[in-house]
Amino acid sequence: MKTTAISVNHLRKYGENMKIETYENDEAVSKRAAELVEAIITNHQQPVLGLATGSTPLGLYQRLIEKYQANQLSFENVITYNLDEYLGLAKTHPESYHAYMDKNLFSHVNINPKNIHMPDNDANRKQEIVDDYNQALAKHPIDLQILGIGENAHIGFNEPGTPFDQKTFIVELDEQTRQSNARFFDSIDEVPSEAITMGIKQIMAAKQIVLIATGDNKAEAIKKTIKGPVTEDVPASILKTHPNCIILLDKAAAKYV
Ligand code: GLP
Repeated sequence: MKTTAISVNHLRKYGENMKIETYENDEAVSKRAAELVEAIITNHQQPVLGLATGSTPLGLYQRLIEKYQANQLSFENVITYNLDEYLGLAKTHPESYHAYMDKNLFSHVNINPKNIHMPDNDANRKQEIVDDYNQALAKHPIDLQILGIGENAHIGFNEPGTPFDQKTFIVELDEQTRQSNARFFDSIDEVPSEAITMGIKQIMAAKQIVLIATGDNKAEAIKKTIKGPVTEDVPASILKTHPNCIILLDKAAAKYV
């Protein structure tokens, strides 16, 4: 398998600073993402990771589990913060992000449950759950934030139009986002219409950001993010102003860049 990058580009104009690495396929992208996460875990006494859900980081999590099982990586001191969660879905619902994280990472590694932070999703306590997550996030600066990207260039659940200085908030999901995520549910009617998400301000506060995008359906969002202006209409475009952001793409997602 080819794991070296097909191309590496730097955006360095008008204060932009973004590294774009393109790989042959999803597997190579996941391997590279895992190397970046491992470096953080190995080089920090108390590594703090920001984690994403969705189909994109599944290969990354699988590799991290394999490393742990091979005694090459320990999560003993790792602290995690997840980006987002649907509102009003039981945490035990298989499509809740709580269940996703448990199934795809946490239950397979030696992470201390006390070190796991996920936003609560009680629709009857909106203000409290927002305040609680903002407080939790203020405790530990994030060393490395993993991001996927929505087809409309959302990051976390920060939909187009979200102010760049937004902290944790309750969001009404875009119709396009609900359509995209309907594939995980029996029908679109079951996709929650609201979510809680870490805000762009908190994402941007991470010391390093790694955004992963694979597949044709992300090509347009990646083009707008990389080639277009920095605008709240394209949430991921703000990442160009981050001092240490790497974008990992497969060939399909990189087709317009
Ligand atoms: C979801 C999540 C995002 C994720 C994105 C892409 O709506 N809230 O955090 O990055 O959509 O998901 P996928 O990786 O399944 O394409």
